[in-house]
Amino acid sequence: MSSPKTIRWGILATGGIAQTFTKDLLVDPTTRGVTNVKHTVVAAASSSSKTRAEQFLKDTGSPSDAKAYGSYDELVKDANIDIIYIATPHSHHYQNAMLCLEAGKNVLCEKAFTVNAAQTRALAAKAKEKDLFLMEAVWTRYFPLSIYVRDLITSGRIGPVARVFADNSMASNPEETWSDGKNRMVNPDLAGGALLDLGIYSLTWVFQTLYHTQPVDTRQPPKVLAALKSYGQTGSADEATTILLTFPRPAEAGGDAHAIATTSLRIATAPGGKDDVPGIRIQGPKGEIQVFPPAFRPTRTRLVLKDGTVEDKQWPLPGPGKGSGWYNGFGGSLQSEGEGQGMFWEADEAATALVEGKKEGKYEGLAESILIMEVMDEARKQGGLVYPDKIETTEYPVQL
Ligand SMILES: NC(=O)c1ccc[n+]([C@@H]2O[C@H](COP(=O)([O-])OP(=O)(O)OC[C@H]3O[C@@H](n4cnc5c(N)ncnc54)[C@H](OP(=O)(O)O)[C@@H]3O)[C@@H](O)[C@H]2O)c1
Repeated sequence: MSSPKTIRWGILATGGIAQTFTKDLLVDPTTRGVTNVKHTVVAAASSSSKTRAEQFLKDTGSPSDAKAYGSYDELVKDANIDIIYIATPHSHHYQNAMLCLEAGKNVLCEKAFTVNAAQTRALAAKAKEKDLFLMEAVWTRYFPLSIYVRDLITSGRIGPVARVFADNSMASNPEETWSDGKNRMVNPDLAGGALLDLGIYSLTWVFQTLYHTQPVDTRQPPKVLAALKSYGQTGSADEATTILLTFPRPAEAGGDAHAIATTSLRIATAPGGKDDVPGIRIQGPKGEIQVFPPAFRPTRTRLVLKDGTVEDKQWPLPGPGKGSGWYNGFGGSLQSEGEGQGMFWEADEAATALVEGKKEGKYEGLAESILIMEVMDEARKQGGLVYPDKIETTEYPVQL
């Protein structure tokens, strides 16, 4: 067996998810059965100060010789970096990703990929021109649980998928939690609102079950009907969005299929924070697959068939293990001791692609990311949600 190839990561931004991702990245891949690649962090950059980047490297347990930069411009010039992970608010992804690609760096960029489809298209074109790897960091697609669900579908266990319900909602009190309106969740200048931040996961479940599982040469974009509720406090962000999608399919493949993707900042997927209600239901003539919340980091599935079969499965997250004293999680909500958050699987996929010379993610290529951005564009158009020009533009560079 050949020894694993080590991929050298640069981290662009030092906020909440950058912390979580970097800690997961540094977990020994063999704890999840991965032997072809390893990860190391060689640099991190903060747009606020070099000190902040230094602190980030310390807090995440990155190697002591990793470099700290006080600007993203310096980071992209670092010749030791194989790939940059972008973890700024989505308003900034286009400018930041373009900066990386122009500098010749491969990119893994947080969701939502960009503010609109035109920006994602421009990034895809730039990556192609420069022969670089580019992938949207929709980590859930790379979970073994997601692979299992897609395999259930393609193996025909529930018959052709006819209908999908997919919700990812937050159950917050936005006026209280983000009272000054400046937080990226509600701030229009940071492309705030439910759709781009949370709704992307509802659409991820719709697309990975109803679109990605169809043959590449015959699958077609869905028709979209959307209702969007504005968030009162800041005016230009959505508090809740509901999208009805019709996927055209040939009669022999089951004919047209429907999906409803919902998201809300205020309303819960499962009341009382319980995860006993399936937020995702994938239905076919022979039965249904249920996925329990949260939609972005699910750990439980149930297969219910018409013939009476019920198969419950738990999908515990691997990590350094109990007794290691190691915790990861997002913000204040740490996962169990020794358990990973689950962001390492997307990192493994990006690293494997680099080793194999591939230029896109395996379970969501750029064309599919663009299509999902188009669906979100259409939902925003029907709901009248427009962000400031400076974050909707495809001009580069623009100072934000
Ligand atoms: N995959 C997931 O589970 C997940 C979870 C949460 C968020 N996300 C995504 O990750 C991205 C970042 O979210 P987050 O929760 O980490 O946000 P955050 O905690 O606010 O961090 C964002 C970071 O971006 C940098 N930044 C640069 N310009 C900024 C500006 N004008 N305003 C605010 N921050 C700016 C800052 O780092 P520096 O000062 O160091 O430059 C900041 O710490 C979003 O696109 C979000 O959708 C993904």
